[in-house]
Amino acid sequence: NGPNLNLLGEREQSQYGVITFNELKKNCLRKSEELDVKLEFVQSNIEGEIVTWIQKAKETYDGIIINAAAFTHTSVAIRDALQIFKKPKIEVHISNIYNREEFRKKSLISDVVTGGIFGMGSHGYILAIIAMHKIIKNENK
Ligand code: DQA
Repeated sequence: NGPNLNLLGEREQSQYGVITFNELKKNCLRKSEELDVKLEFVQSNIEGEIVTWIQKAKETYDGIIINAAAFTHTSVAIRDALQIFKKPKIEVHISNIYNREEFRKKSLISDVVTGGIFGMGSHGYILAIIAMHKIIKNENK
């Protein structure tokens, strides 16, 4: 989770809903426990910190689910780090970035991830966890 997502619940509710960051985190951890998947749910406002997490994930994790928030549209560094991470990657956006301002329509990471979910509200995170679990388990059904 990239910048300002810690303020979910209070920022632009018409785009991001009323769910708080902590509620979202709880929901995601609950779903991953249900699926018996280890999930680390993190957020940073600092681009370099996210780059470092992605680099470290290479050793520890089977996949990355990323909502890079505003960095989606600006960060070559996050794009490059994701490109180096050779395992499954899912891009999530709470809002539909394609029906908003022009500058949000360009994602610098969409073409280096496995797939993406946008516009489904916070449900997108849960859908991404389910998809990642299936991808990692190699379930095509
Ligand atoms: C976002 C969309 C981005 O354009 C925005 O900067 C965000 C959140 C989303 O989840 O819809 O911070 O990634």
